[in-house]
Amino acid sequence: MTNFPHPELCQSIRQFIQESPQQRITFAEYMSQVLYHPQYGYYTRGAGIGALGDFATSPHLCADFGETLAEQFLEMWHILDRPNPFHLVEMGAGQGILARDILQYIRDRDADFYRSLDYIIIETSATFQQEQQRRFKNAPIRWCTWDELPLESIVGCCFSNELVDAFPVHLFAIESGNLREIYVANSDNDREFVEILGEPSTSELAEYLEFNGIEIQNYPDGYRSEINLAALDWMETVAKRLKRGYVLTIDYGYTADRYYSLGRSRGTLQCYYQHRYHDNPYLYIGNQDITAHVNFTALQRQGEACGLSTLGLTQQGLFLMALGWGDRLVKLSNPAAGEKTATARDIAEIMQRRQTLHALIDPMGLGGFQVLIQGKGLSEGECQRLPRGLTELSA
Ligand SMILES: C[S@@+](CC[C@H](N)C(=O)[O-])C[C@H]1O[C@@H](n2cnc3c(N)ncnc32)[C@H](O)[C@@H]1O
Repeated sequence: MTNFPHPELCQSIRQFIQESPQQRITFAEYMSQVLYHPQYGYYTRGAGIGALGDFATSPHLCADFGETLAEQFLEMWHILDRPNPFHLVEMGAGQGILARDILQYIRDRDADFYRSLDYIIIETSATFQQEQQRRFKNAPIRWCTWDELPLESIVGCCFSNELVDAFPVHLFAIESGNLREIYVANSDNDREFVEILGEPSTSELAEYLEFNGIEIQNYPDGYRSEINLAALDWMETVAKRLKRGYVLTIDYGYTADRYYSLGRSRGTLQCYYQHRYHDNPYLYIGNQDITAHVNFTALQRQGEACGLSTLGLTQQGLFLMALGWGDRLVKLSNPAAGEKTATARDIAEIMQRRQTLHALIDPMGLGGFQVLIQGKGLSEGECQRLPRGLTELSA
């Protein structure tokens, strides 16, 4: 990746705008081109995830994250009375690090569960899919599109980490008490992209705000934020494929009242470039990530409209702690009896690992991410047995 805008991508977007009615495209169309253009998109070409890239996700920091999720899946398998197969559907698997950690842990932890697993990856980026396939030459994983998965065919858990924040979002602004949409157009000299306000491209924007209990008359002129319609479609797609089991979604975000709070008047759009973040999506076009926080109320309500029940929404820090994160921290400080005396290098590694474990539960950082678990087709007894990661809620 370079620090320049990707020239062919910019040219392609310019042309797309010129050929569009009124020579403008919605911000969602712009973001979709920048991230997912079939040739030049940032994700299509294999986004820069990890230390050498633009941003790091929890699985990139330590295997403990995947191992702890695996503990949750193991418990879900037991709650569902050990179905065979148990489908684990990972959506947006990136470089496949999480899949590797989950599968390795389950293989060593519980041979019966491992044998029951049908691990499916749904990944739109061809580059990432190839990378995953290289990594997992002999692992029991298959790659599918949604169309290849029949309705009501999944018994198990569909899960994602930092997927929904990567969906293209519409941008809106309030002008004289009215809902307006932010479009992207070419500048007069055709060198830059500029934002212009217009009437909403679809009535779904107003409906979305209403669905989330947001009344635009309460917002001042100039207030702007995002609307993630793609997340609603995705939720419906997942709910329709699930027959019995869970949907587990981890991402950064808020409930609707906090997402659309008056104080957050510039929205949540964020761009990541070489581990620095800023809010200008017109820089480093095609060479930086563009994301928006996730509105978890929308996921819950859409899920409920599509037959999912909300089992709980908690923070990543609490979720990991409920699944034994604290024991991992304690074990680091108290090596088992009989282990060899630690060298200076061991100690440096222990310190590093301890720092990482703390980072994943830090409420001001990754620990503040939200974890939503929804269920479908569960019996009354299964509903009452909340997945352990949520049990901090009732403590
Ligand atoms: C921010 S990355 C997160 C990767 C990985 N889950 C992690 O935590 O490191 C988002 C991933 O979702 C993929 N993606 C984006 N939209 C998708 C969609 N609609 N369906 C499946 N995968 C998608 C991207 O290609 C990328 O692999």
